[in-house]
Amino acid sequence: MNSSTPGIEPELHARRAASFGAEAAAYAAHRPDYPEKALAWGLAGARKSPDRVLDLAAGTGKVSEGLLAMGVAVTAVEPDPKMLGQLTRTLPAVTPLIGTAERIPLPDEAVDAVVVGQAFHWFDLDRAYPEIARVLKPGGVVAALWNHDDESAGWPAELNALIKTSMSRRWLSDYRSLPEHEAFEPFEKKTFGHKQPRTAESLVATLATHSHMLVATAEERETKLRTAREFLDRNPETASGEFDLPITTTVFRALKR
Ligand SMILES: C[S@@+](CC[C@H](N)C(=O)[O-])C[C@H]1O[C@@H](n2cnc3c(N)ncnc32)[C@H](O)[C@@H]1O
Repeated sequence: MNSSTPGIEPELHARRAASFGAEAAAYAAHRPDYPEKALAWGLAGARKSPDRVLDLAAGTGKVSEGLLAMGVAVTAVEPDPKMLGQLTRTLPAVTPLIGTAERIPLPDEAVDAVVVGQAFHWFDLDRAYPEIARVLKPGGVVAALWNHDDESAGWPAELNALIKTSMSRRWLSDYRSLPEHEAFEPFEKKTFGHKQPRTAESLVATLATHSHMLVATAEERETKLRTAREFLDRNPETASGEFDLPITTTVFRALKR
């Protein structure tokens, strides 16, 4: 598999992959975290309980934070200095490194697990899989997680249809599993229910951190965000005060052969 996302041309794919740092603080403030049970299931795919874990494409540290709470030593690799700067300010216990999935700045067999939150779809997997296998110890695990709105609740589906969001979700549904690689056993998959307390204002602020919004023109972004706010203000479940955004966390994990 090359570095393109189904439905997006390579140039746009690259721009979107590099778009997040422009809104690093908003990303840290508004994007959801990952449930501990989902991270734990990912790590449990290793032959022995992991001590050293790489948060790959770490962004502002949503995965790192969850891993630290589980008591493991965390190294974060991230290409965008603004995203990594946000991480180092809030999570000084994490070892931060600038790098990419295609070129991980770690020695061979350095970690027991590699965890990727909301970013596997940005990787050039032909180059990333051998790199991930190289830095993993024998018996180590790679786990990829995505948070996406639980559309069975009704209104999140309506909202997403209105503003045509959730590229990650579309990417996910294009694959029943992740592409296989000779260095890994086939992926196992599990989903977990999750939720995040929200207001209409904070949900609109989250939508503004999605890559398709970040690469849109200012006018297009404003129109879409206004449409979202108008919907949330008239929808009974979201019109007043705090509400829970229902989230599904999907996890794929594969053991290194
Ligand atoms: C949607 S954010 C996810 C950040 C964090 N993992 C999380 O769960 O909140 C995607 C991240 O992937 C990073 N990224 C994009 N292309 C990458 C690549 N080829 N290798 C490593 N990271 C990449 C971006 O800079 C961005 O921080």
